[in-house]
Amino acid sequence: MIQISLLAFVYSSFALYIIMTIDPALLNKYNVPVPRYTSYPTVPFWKDGIDSAQWKAVFQEQFKLNNGKQGISLYLHLPFCESLCTYCGCNKKITTNHTVEEVYMEALAKEWNIYLELMNEPPVVRELHLGGGTPTFFSPENLKKLLNIIFEKSIVNPDHEFSIEGHPNNTTTEHLQTLFDLGFRRVSYGVQDNDPEVQRVINRIQPVENVQRATDAARAIGFKSVNFDLIYGLPLQTIESLYKTILQTVAMRPDRIAFYSYAHVPWTSRGQRLFDEKDLPSTEEKMKLYQLGKELLSQNGYFDIGMDHFALETDDMYAAKLEGRLHRNFMGYTTQHTSLLLGLGVSSISDAGIAFSQNEKTLHDYYAFIERNELPVKRGYFLSEEDVAFKNYILDISCKGKTTFKKEHLPLLKEFSFSELIKLEQDQLINWSEEGVTVTALGAHFIRNICKAFDLHLLRNQQETAGPRFSKAI
Ligand SMILES: C[S@@+](CC[C@H](N)C(=O)[O-])C[C@H]1O[C@@H](n2cnc3c(N)ncnc32)[C@H](O)[C@@H]1O
Ligand code: SF4
Repeated sequence: MIQISLLAFVYSSFALYIIMTIDPALLNKYNVPVPRYTSYPTVPFWKDGIDSAQWKAVFQEQFKLNNGKQGISLYLHLPFCESLCTYCGCNKKITTNHTVEEVYMEALAKEWNIYLELMNEPPVVRELHLGGGTPTFFSPENLKKLLNIIFEKSIVNPDHEFSIEGHPNNTTTEHLQTLFDLGFRRVSYGVQDNDPEVQRVINRIQPVENVQRATDAARAIGFKSVNFDLIYGLPLQTIESLYKTILQTVAMRPDRIAFYSYAHVPWTSRGQRLFDEKDLPSTEEKMKLYQLGKELLSQNGYFDIGMDHFALETDDMYAAKLEGRLHRNFMGYTTQHTSLLLGLGVSSISDAGIAFSQNEKTLHDYYAFIERNELPVKRGYFLSEEDVAFKNYILDISCKGKTTFKKEHLPLLKEFSFSELIKLEQDQLINWSEEGVTVTALGAHFIRNICKAFDLHLLRNQQETAGPRFSKAI
């Protein structure tokens, strides 16, 4: 007993000693609701009831432009999970009935066929990501079947990058070997937190041995990059528990780490109502968790890529950051860039550069559209010239830490952005002039807030009372 409390004391004293690198007052000031800018305009500003014919036309046009050059990216959303993690904000369907796999695969194949007809020539697949839900809910045989449906009518770019989100509890050697044989080299595991008490309250019992086993298996088979997702700000999380989780994590040397801020959005993710809000860390505690995580990761050789992402210097993401090759989309930062992302499956998002579309969010509605052989697009957005220009400013800031203004945008920049830039400069987060903006080393911790200076939708909307709600920056 004495030994345990002594250990806790040593952990907390040491942890508190290392966390105070960013002024807490500054963190507090910028800890306001702000989007993660995985798209611009951000999803809450898209419109319901997108014109499906217009989306098809834009998709076809962008496909013709891009297929022969870089090829396309595919995202397949596999929504099923066996049990509900109460913190989860993803689009998922909880079931233990695995017969849903076949039904869902058939629907995905039909949706793919609708797009194949639109494409009218075999697509060149450069990037492919299986996300969820839990893609490893599907049996290895079914994943193989599904991927073969995709590959049967497409050409795989020799320089491809295929990745999957795996759950450490149910990712088997068979899953990994099957995927490796199909060209997958990246796997991302949801780790979240290793503390048994935190795991109990978030309903995700996941012994650290399972994470180690899944990581060792991926490496033994030949996966070249393993990512871990961690979350800070979960219920019952403490400085000591996070300290321990991060030390256990860095000991396994994942190539990349996503260190997410827990997004508490109980108005859309009802599972988050299943734990007591009193168990959530206070804003001040959450900021300490954030500081501790950032500091510990950088002390252990992880380079801060920006907005939640860290990578070892041996990982391609590190070189991409230095060489200005980073891109940002719905999956966060990526190292390759195609201009057309096609999302298949319930709730999936497609990005055609000048337009976005999102599929129906419930399985019931998704299946109903597919039954009628119609594209299940529900929401979306067609970008104006102004949107494209400001999207590029936001991408520049988040991927390169700097941007150059075009003369023709100066009137809009003066009207909306410059007053924001003045405030950011006063806090030493940026340097700027009428030529452009450069993010400072301090500003790199506040990228979301800096991007907001170019979010004309949000800035215009601020004048109105009931705007969309976002999670806080930290
Ligand atoms: C689809 S899940 C990952 C794969 C698999 N389902 C699993 O949980 O291991 C995607 C990631 O989103 C993150 N996530 C989910 N809900 C979140 C929330 N409310 N706030 C922050 N991150 C969240 C988690 O880190 C999770 O690993
Ligand atoms: S965190 Fe992963 S496993 Fe848990 S409910 Fe969400 S998608 Fe499913």
